[in-house]
Amino acid sequence: MSRSFSSPPRLIMGEDALETAATQLPSLGTKVLIVTDPGIVAAGIHDQVHAILTDSGLPIDTFSEVVGNPDIATVEKADAARAAAGSDIVVAIGGGSSIDVAKSVAVIATNGGRIGDYEGVDRFSTPPLPVLVVPTTVGSGSEVTKGAVITDPDTHVKMVIVSDLMFARIAILDPRVVAGLPGRIAATTGMDALTHAIEAYVAKGANPVTDAINLGAIEIIGQNLVPASQGDPEALYQMLVASSMAGIGFHDAGLGAVHALANTLGGHFGIHHGTANALFLPYVMDFNLPAAPERFARIAQALGEDVAGLSAEDAARRASERVHRLAEETAVPRTLTELDIPEDAIPALAADALGQADLPGNPREASLQDLTDLYRRAL
Ligand SMILES: [Fe+2]
Repeated sequence: MSRSFSSPPRLIMGEDALETAATQLPSLGTKVLIVTDPGIVAAGIHDQVHAILTDSGLPIDTFSEVVGNPDIATVEKADAARAAAGSDIVVAIGGGSSIDVAKSVAVIATNGGRIGDYEGVDRFSTPPLPVLVVPTTVGSGSEVTKGAVITDPDTHVKMVIVSDLMFARIAILDPRVVAGLPGRIAATTGMDALTHAIEAYVAKGANPVTDAINLGAIEIIGQNLVPASQGDPEALYQMLVASSMAGIGFHDAGLGAVHALANTLGGHFGIHHGTANALFLPYVMDFNLPAAPERFARIAQALGEDVAGLSAEDAARRASERVHRLAEETAVPRTLTELDIPEDAIPALAADALGQADLPGNPREASLQDLTDLYRRAL
């Protein structure tokens, strides 16, 4: 079976990345709409970015009502703001939610209709408006992926909209933007990035290009996740870069059962995506181990484990043990009970997870019973 790898967008990273990006805005359009959330405004990050982008000379409007696990209505409110302002460039400032809303607005601005019309792969044909992305968390990878995830409020299902046309033009990785990221958010979004890199490294669509990028991301995350969760600014910047690497590493390789379980939990209960991934990651690694022991052994090594002299199976087990410790050291929630998810929700969750788009990429086939068992392990 053939594999593919697509490489846009341009990444601008490091000190002054925002200033560099501002010089490129006029080549993309005439009016900017910033899409962000109230937390980014309250943290002062919106004003910080806005001030630098103003150097472009372009007028800038802001929509700041993005919510977590954004739904169709959020996209439509943002698009109404864009239409009212006449914006032809969309700049996302935020985590995966703001980025996915911005990408979705860019699609319906040029294609019309509702974002749900484009659920699936390559369902629209007109190129969206140009999108610039300023990630402010260290996990979603959405700044470099060619898709968006939007919740359908009627079915609670997270719709995935994917197209090569959906890449942002520029992703801006500026250390100043993440320097003040609260430890809890660094931990949970960092766990999302780690999940991307690990799931994609063992996924059915993995290939030599994504392997190299994902192993690199796993190594950086293994070294920096804990200090980042304690507020170390250099570790936060390293996590920002690793999170984009993991995004590049997963969008063609695909993901697996962790995301199927986590997206379903997010759709039903609004649980933060990174938190949900952190819950299931080590259990799914154990479940998948028989399908790819050598790969999990390599993950253990990338996470800094000494596996010399161990069998592939023993070395592979070190990987999930290390992930358990990372979860402990970063103090992310470890059980469904802590998140107030009742045990009797599991049958419906497992049934929906079985239909999740990420599941077929998992290296080991997971039945309804397997998914039920995985939810139970996380109780
Ligand atoms: Fe994710």
